Amino acid sequence: MDRYAVIGHPIAHSKSPRIHAAFARQTGQALCYEAILAPLDGFSASVHAFRAAGGRGMNVTVPFKLEAFALADQHTPRARAAGAVNTLSFNSEGILGDNTDGAGLVRDLSVHLGCTLKGRRILLLGAGGAARGALLPLLDEQPAVLTIANRTPRKAQELASRFAGSAASTQLHACGFEALAGQQFDLVINATAASLADAAPALPGGLYAPGALAYDMMYGRDDTPFIAAARAEGAARTADGLGMLVEQAAESFALWRGLRPDSSAVLAELRRELG
Ligand code: ATR
Repeated sequence: MDRYAVIGHPIAHSKSPRIHAAFARQTGQALCYEAILAPLDGFSASVHAFRAAGGRGMNVTVPFKLEAFALADQHTPRARAAGAVNTLSFNSEGILGDNTDGAGLVRDLSVHLGCTLKGRRILLLGAGGAARGALLPLLDEQPAVLTIANRTPRKAQELASRFAGSAASTQLHACGFEALAGQQFDLVINATAASLADAAPALPGGLYAPGALAYDMMYGRDDTPFIAAARAEGAARTADGLGMLVEQAAESFALWRGLRPDSSAVLAELRRELG
């Protein structure tokens, strides 16, 4: 049976084995999918051992996405743009590194949330790995405006200058949070790590245009501080990142198996379990 795995540290909390098992059942694919805890200094050794034991591909999670990028022999354009890899495919030519996180975000927005991005004004909060991974897939949708705002404005500016050449039909801006005052957006995406510290980015009021969606890449049973603040600010709709999690998995599954699973059923099941 073809073997796949998710590798990270920690890994016990990962929902990927369940998601991929459900995809395999649905599509009638004979595969098994494990969770591998790699020592912090043992990422590449663990990948090579899994490959040598017959593994076909891996998902990579915190804190190894940059090491996975360095380990891959070839990269997809979206992995190169992200500078990080969350999906490895082993083939006769070596190790292919892909990044399905941003595509997962865009698919969640379009398929599950019915959110058209073309011609819209998007605010992307954060300038770390999560924001960088989302940028190229978001720009590919041709929004009218994509503003990257970060607590440390310099990092937003660096990120924007890196992607300036990919933004033909989009006005790409970068700034700090305070400079957002007076602007309005149709979609605000939280790609900061603020929720991990149980905090919300310190945003000015009035950012949400009528009908706007507030999207947090984090998810949980309760509203994240960002979602709670967005509701208080009058955002018409809110969504967390559970759909992005399922869609990035579906994208990896499609890369490995050449089939796209029905992510809606799996998302509904995970949502029920969150309670
Ligand atoms: P990740 O890979 O999850 O994006 P990261 O590369 O460490 O993690 O980036 C964390 C991001 O969250 C950064 O944009 C950081 O802002 P700074 O560049 O100013 O550090 C942002 N962040 C973390 N805590 C935050 C908070 N409490 N409020 C706003 N932004 C925060």
